[in-house]
Order: sequence, then C-alpha cells, then structure tokens
Amino acid sequence: MADGSGEVSASEIAVHWQEEEYYPPPPDFVAQANLTDPKVSERFALENFPDYYHEFGDLLDWYKPWDTVLDSTNPPFWRWFVGGELNASYNCVDRHLAGSKNKTALYFIPDSEDEPIEAITYQELYVRVNEFAAYLRDGIGLRRGDRVTVHLPMLAELAVTMLACARLGVIHSVVFGGFSAQACADRIVDSGSSVLITSDGYWRAGKWIDHKEKADQACDLAAGEDHRVEKVLIWERHRGQYRSEHPLVEGRDVVIDDVIGEFRGQRVEPEHMRADETLFLMYTSGSTGKPKAAQHSTGGYLSYVTAMSKLILDLKPTDVYWCMADIGWITGHSFIVYGPLSLGASSIIYEGVPNHPDAGRPWRIAERLDVNILHTSPTAIRLLRKDGPEEPKKYKYHFKLMVTVGEPIEPDVWRWYYNVVGQQESAIVDTWWQTENGGFLCSTVPALLPMKPGSAGPGVPGIHPVIYDNEGNEVPAGTGKGGNICIRNPWPGSMMGIWGNPDRYVATYYARYCKDRESKDWRDWPYFAGDGAMLASDGYFRILGRIDDVINVAGHRLGTKELESAALMVPGVAEAAVVATRDEIKGIMPEIFVSLAPGVSPSEELGRRVIDSIVREIGPIARPRKVWLVPDLPKTRSGKIMRRVLASVSNREDVGDVTSLANPEIVEQIREMVQAERLGHT
Ligand code: PRX
Repeated sequence: MADGSGEVSASEIAVHWQEEEYYPPPPDFVAQANLTDPKVSERFALENFPDYYHEFGDLLDWYKPWDTVLDSTNPPFWRWFVGGELNASYNCVDRHLAGSKNKTALYFIPDSEDEPIEAITYQELYVRVNEFAAYLRDGIGLRRGDRVTVHLPMLAELAVTMLACARLGVIHSVVFGGFSAQACADRIVDSGSSVLITSDGYWRAGKWIDHKEKADQACDLAAGEDHRVEKVLIWERHRGQYRSEHPLVEGRDVVIDDVIGEFRGQRVEPEHMRADETLFLMYTSGSTGKPKAAQHSTGGYLSYVTAMSKLILDLKPTDVYWCMADIGWITGHSFIVYGPLSLGASSIIYEGVPNHPDAGRPWRIAERLDVNILHTSPTAIRLLRKDGPEEPKKYKYHFKLMVTVGEPIEPDVWRWYYNVVGQQESAIVDTWWQTENGGFLCSTVPALLPMKPGSAGPGVPGIHPVIYDNEGNEVPAGTGKGGNICIRNPWPGSMMGIWGNPDRYVATYYARYCKDRESKDWRDWPYFAGDGAMLASDGYFRILGRIDDVINVAGHRLGTKELESAALMVPGVAEAAVVATRDEIKGIMPEIFVSLAPGVSPSEELGRRVIDSIVREIGPIARPRKVWLVPDLPKTRSGKIMRRVLASVSNREDVGDVTSLANPEIVEQIREMVQAERLGHT
C-alpha cells in the first residue's frame, strides 16, 4: 500500500507466472449438475442488479415475503430482503421434516476410529434443537437479540446450539475451540454475552483435551474487565460423564445433560425474524487492534449460503457432504451448518485431524459414508500429500466435486488433488472469499467453466469483481499487473457491519475506493477486500494474498499486531515485528523479530517466553515458527518498522535497496544471523 515509505506494495508488483492449462468439467458431473444454464451470466449481469438476488431469496421459506430486494439508501449499510420475515432454524430443520425426517442431517465422526459414528436424522435434530432452545429460553431466560458466546470443539452439539439460538433469535458468537481463554474472554466482553456455552473436553489426535479449564479462565479474565458471565453451560463429550478435572462453579455452571430432561418433548415456535436482524457474530483479525466481529444477517446470509451451496458446491439433498473446516470459522458456519442443512443434505462433523491415526483416515471416511463432495484447504491437501501420497488409491470412493478454500493453492498441489484424490473424475472449485462475505466471491461455476489450477475463477453469479491500482484506476484484464481486488456491487451474504463499530466497518472496507462519501448510489461504494489479485485475459482471478497486516496461517487468519502485542507483554521485549514466511505445509507461518530493552541480554528462555505469551493470548495456531532476538529492527527515518525487509530476510529473498533506512547496517546483521541459523539446521 502507498504508506509514504516509498515502498512498492506487493499488489503492485507485476507477477509473472506460467499460464496453467485448462481442465474441462467432467462429463458425468455436468450431466447431473444443478446449474448448467449458460445464460446464468446474462441473468446475473450488473444491469439486472439487485433484482437477480430474488433467485437467492426464493430458495428459503419465509413467514412474510420481502417488499424490497435491496435497500441501499444508507451506504454502505446494505439491507437485504427488507420487509421479509423468516427463521434460520426453521429453514435448516423444520422444513425438511415433511419430506425427509428420517434422513441423516448430521454425521458426527469421533476422533477415534473405535468409537461409532453417530447419524442424526432431521427428526432427531429437530427434537434436540427444540429441547435445547426451550432450556435456553425457559431455563436460562435468553431472549431475541441477546448474545451468547459458544466455545465448543467439533461436536454435533455445536450445530444444535447454533440452531437453538437461531430459533430464539439469540445471536450466537462461536469462538474457535482452539483459541485461548484470553481470546474467548475478549469476545465475551466485546459481544456483551452473559452466557458461555462450552464442553468438558474433546479428543484430538488420540489425546483428551480438557476444555472446561478455558471457560473458568475466560470468566475470570472477563470479570477483570468488569464483565460478569452469569451462566456457563456445559455439553459433555461423553453424555452422562463429566470428564473435566475442573469442577463446576456453584451457581454459575450447569451440565446440560443434568437439566435437559426437564424439557423433554418441548417444542419452541421459531421467532419470526426480520431479514435484516442479526443471525450471528464471527470475529476475525484485521490490521489494527483486537479482532472485530462481522455481523451477519438472517435473510441475506442464509439465502446467500443456500444459493452458493446449490450453485457452486452443487449440493443436493441426496449428497453426503464433508467440509473438513472447523465450525468455529466462517467456512464451517456457512458450509457445515447453514448451507447444507438449509438444502436438506447430509453434512459431516469430524472431531479429529486429517492425518490421525494416518493419512488414510479421510479416504476411509469417504469410503465408509460414501461422501461425494469434499471441502478442504490447501494446508490439509499438502499435509495429506506429504504423509500419504498414494493413500487415496487404496480406498473406493467417488467425489463428484471437491473444494479448496482459505489460501492460494499451488498448481502442483492442485494437480495432486485432482489426479490422486479426485481420481480425475471430480470437478474442483477454488473458492475465494472471507469471513466478512458470508459466502463465495470468486469461483468457477463447476459445470459451466473449465478449471485452471491456482486461479479461483471469475466472480460467482451476482458478484462483479474489479482490480484497482493504488490510485483507483481499474487494472484491465491480461496486463500481468497485480492490484487490489474489490467488488463493485453489494451482495446478500455480506456482513451488515462490525459489531458496535460502524466507523471501523466503513473505514476498513469502503473508504479506500469511495469517491464520494455523500453518495447514495451503491456504484460509488466498491467493497475493498484487502487481497492482492491479478486478472488474466480469460476473466479468471488469481489471488495473491493479503496486502494488509493480516497473515493467513494454514488458512487461519491472524493479525500480526495481535502477535506483536502478545510479545510486547514479555518483560524485556522492546519492540516486535511479525513477518509471514513460506512454509511447505502450512503455506505461511509467522516468524517474529524481537529487539530487547537496554541491558536485557538475549537468551533461549526469553525466546520461549515470547512463544508462551503468544500461545496464551491467542492460541496454539498463532505459535511462531521462530523467535529472532535481534539488536534492533530496521526502520524508516520516520520510525516505521520495515516488516517487508524482515520478511525478505526470512524468506531468503533480495532485500532490495535499504540505504534510505535509518539503520541500514542492521539489515545485514540480521541477515547474517538468519543465514547462520538456517545453515546450522540444514
Ligand atoms: O487472503 C484471502 C484468503 O483468506 C482470506 C480470508 O480469510 P478468512 O476471513 O479467515 O476466511 C477464510 C475462508 C473463507 C482472504 O482475504 N483466501 C480465502 N480463500 C482463498 C484465499 N486465498 C486464495 N485463494 C482462495 N481460494
């Protein structure tokens, strides 16, 4: 970004990559696909905006139909399907009872292969959601508009909890189970939740993880900020057996299985929610400060994920669909819970990790349940390729469609996915989008467009992306020049705002390319995604990665500032800078450069303390690959830390001309240090 430092931004650098060959959609896939009408691009042309989104709204059941598809009178606060009323829980559960109540809605696959798989039918899901909703309403007193923080691992109860909240109009804020107590506490306080829903523990790669401990700590940390958690509700991983070593806190903690019996057989009439009422909050990292909550709507969001599941994932009620993401991220919300269940498909919740006990596990699951759609990330694909390159060949399964999401996928990794995992029979969609977006922005429509390894594709139907340079000029297709990818038009899945912080919403996503802040015309408000991208002459976008201070580790989004502030909490640390370095499996890993306060000498112990602090503040996913204790950090004359120079050093790239820095000599010192260490390790 043009930041006055005279640097050229990553998105401005022309990227030369080899054009990859096209792969046509497999004929068997096309023969059965949901969307095969080539006229779709005409229907979804910009001149038909916003009316074309009628098609999305029509996929849902409404208590009251909407009057206006889009109210854009207060940009960029878009309101979709205004006047309409619906309930997400009804759409994901009740509406399937008449036709398919005995069909599996959710499979729960435990970490251990010795523990049986649980199949939960739509009828059973209906019963569980209603009973839990009755408890939340009548036992706890939760009401429409209240917020609840949910810190649960990958258990079926997580989906039940979300749907029970949605039934009552209670706004759920699910925190990824692997996040620390501190991260959970921050989200409890920011969302104003007085109830925390958690579990005693869970299994991960054969190990029991005591999860309740984090709830106790999170409540204490929240109390330190004058926020009281009134109730902690605990699902037991093994029903009827409380297995945490951390005892219940009298008056605050409730084991759900101890009380749910009182609500047996109860039914809760779903709240009639306005389309633009909040369904959930999902926290995500940004460039500055603490994570912020994207606030997603009921009607716009649900219609969008339903449409994307149907058109891009080609999901049908007859499909068995496995998205390997965690429900604690947006991918899991949209494509384990809301999208697949809204369409009445069978969706898998897998407790474990992809390569435990070995890299054959996913393919055994696929064979056993006859999974025909697989949804995962480049990190998981790289891991499975490394651990078991031939493993998929040992099992009998057929994927009609496979999905990749979360990070750019290297063409070589893509080809292994296609040839070995998909056995050349499967269509692949590379879906580019973000927490803030609800659902996909770029992807090929799988039956209509050829695949191109490493490129997401054009905008999905309804989405009109554009690349702007730093001056706001459009970068045309086929120039080989990168720029900032933006979306010209609003769409129903887009967040309604940042919870409690409308200014940050406008500043982060819309201020950059809005030419007239007074304008009431949506055309003047392109959405700024924060990713660099290139547009090839065929109209396919290739995503280059974040252009801000966000790094994407194994598809998990972290703010460099979050790691740096955790490092700065360690006594003796003067300054800290996090950089993204390339990693064979995870795509990107953070490394942190730390300079010490005067008189403090570097030691292994100090490096360990920096790591401990980061893991404690954020969680193990943020653990840096390396802590470099350095005499000073390279800075501009105005005192700005040159993270990009450090990243080049870490990645063993040319650092370019550093003579204009305030302390150019430090770059060479750091380079020598890094090189010596790397040599020592090879
Ligand atoms: O940099 C892009 C990358 O992931 C970021 C969004 O992260 P998050 O909000 O956690 O959502 C992840 C799942 C939707 C984006 O800004 N990203 C996501 N999908 C892709 C991608 N980069 C390249 N290709 C993708 N398919």
